[in-house]
Amino acid sequence: MSDHVILTETVDRVGIIRLNRPKALNALNVEVITALVEAAETFQADPNIMAIVVTGNEKAFAAGADIKEMADKSFVEMHMADWSARWDRFTAIRLPIIAAVNGYALGGGCELAMMADIMVAGPKTQFGQPEINLGVIPGWGGSQRLTRAVGKAKAMDMVLTGRMMDGEEAERAGLVARLVEDDKVFDTAMEIAQTIAAKSRPVVMVAKEAVDAAFETTLSQGVLFERRTFHPLFALEDQKEGMDAFANKRKAQFKDC
Ligand code: CAA
Repeated sequence: MSDHVILTETVDRVGIIRLNRPKALNALNVEVITALVEAAETFQADPNIMAIVVTGNEKAFAAGADIKEMADKSFVEMHMADWSARWDRFTAIRLPIIAAVNGYALGGGCELAMMADIMVAGPKTQFGQPEINLGVIPGWGGSQRLTRAVGKAKAMDMVLTGRMMDGEEAERAGLVARLVEDDKVFDTAMEIAQTIAAKSRPVVMVAKEAVDAAFETTLSQGVLFERRTFHPLFALEDQKEGMDAFANKRKAQFKDC
């Protein structure tokens, strides 16, 4: 239904979540975030779904947290509601999440895109953390994830000045995995999701976890984590199938076990 703040759809083994507050440039209010997180969890609970694509519309992926909703909040309200913590459920999703980003991806919108695993954008996409203009700082991980993605120089530039970065600069800086024409962004994200959908579901989940571990630990601990998760994969039928398919020059048919 078009009056829903998000629209969900399933195409083959891909779950699609489309933010749907076009009049507010998909500003992320509590209703949207709740619906988004629940939709992602519902897709994850469906064993047929292999990957999730999150997108907005041509003008805006999302122009940030809903400024009007939070403008009058007090410190106590923000602190006691732990306003930003609901995103922990989103980042706990084990399926790969691909963000198809057109238009504005500002503040919480940029932060949501950075919570995804793979970002696809077009040259006209505008990324930014303009919270400084509102008298605050990024609140959903922007100061941390942006810095890890693009380094201190550009992160400081964007967070302190509030300037935007277009899709080309974002791709050069390492924020965007694939830069494609603006009208190919969603289709490219779907192609990536469909490619992942042909793999083994448990192995895909482990692969995501292993890469994510690189952000949380030292190199030696991360390598050990990888080794400890690589070896058990040899208990899976999918490992036998994948390697047998290679040896016999055929396409692997994974059974997700
Ligand atoms: N929250 C609430 N409403 C928003 C919004 C937001 N983040 N961004 C846009 N809107 C609303 C506007 O208020 C406007 O609504 P009305 O028609 O009712 O006035 C509508 O969307 C269209 O916006 P504009 O008229 O401003 O469109 P524009 O094309 O002239 O400008 C824009 C586009 C440059 C993106 C501008 O809307 C803008 O600067 N938006 C705010 C961006 C921002 O500051 N984001 C950070 C939010 S704070 C945050 O995200 C904190 C955090 O880290 C958790």
